[in-house]
Amino acid sequence: MKSLFRSMIVAGVFAAGVVPALADDAKPEDAVKYREAVMSVIGGHTGAFFAILQGKVPHKDALSYHANAIAAASEHVGPAFEQDTTGTKSEAKDAIWADKAKFDKHVQDFEQAAKTLASAVDSGDMAAIGPAAKNLGGACKACHDDFRQE
Ligand code: HEC
Repeated sequence: MKSLFRSMIVAGVFAAGVVPALADDAKPEDAVKYREAVMSVIGGHTGAFFAILQGKVPHKDALSYHANAIAAASEHVGPAFEQDTTGTKSEAKDAIWADKAKFDKHVQDFEQAAKTLASAVDSGDMAAIGPAAKNLGGACKACHDDFRQE
């Protein structure tokens, strides 16, 4: 905490009239790191969600937390890939920016699937959770198959 406070001062955030340096465009490597961070959050919550759903761990009360976190994060996938980083080293295929309409369709399907799952969990509709979870997994896979190279 102390060092965060100090680095904020160093960054000049507290200096009179200084606006935090919010970038419009990032260095390509930073844009890659940012979207990987967004994806990692989604990956973490999805892994946790399925571990509970499959009965590997208890924590049933946390299903709603993980499902809603995935739904919230899903809104940040589209923006995270807005910047064209064609030619920059990452697991994202350059095809994303060559066929943005197709990529955006995957983003929309994913957002829809994530929100449907969160609603199913919050309504306690046990019969709907299984199919909604399967649908979400399908949305991850569909986009990765087309646009990610591991
Ligand atoms: C609309 C497309 C799309 C959807 C939907 C999507 N992903 Fe991804 N994902 C990608 C791309 C592209 C990358 C590679 C990003 C890069 O390296 O810059 C990636 C990378 C990842 C990574 C690796 C992150 C890292 O640290 O490098 C994880 C984990 C991941 N996705 C999990 C998921 C899970 C889980 C879901 C579904 C709940 C999901 N993704 C849905 C496109 C998608």
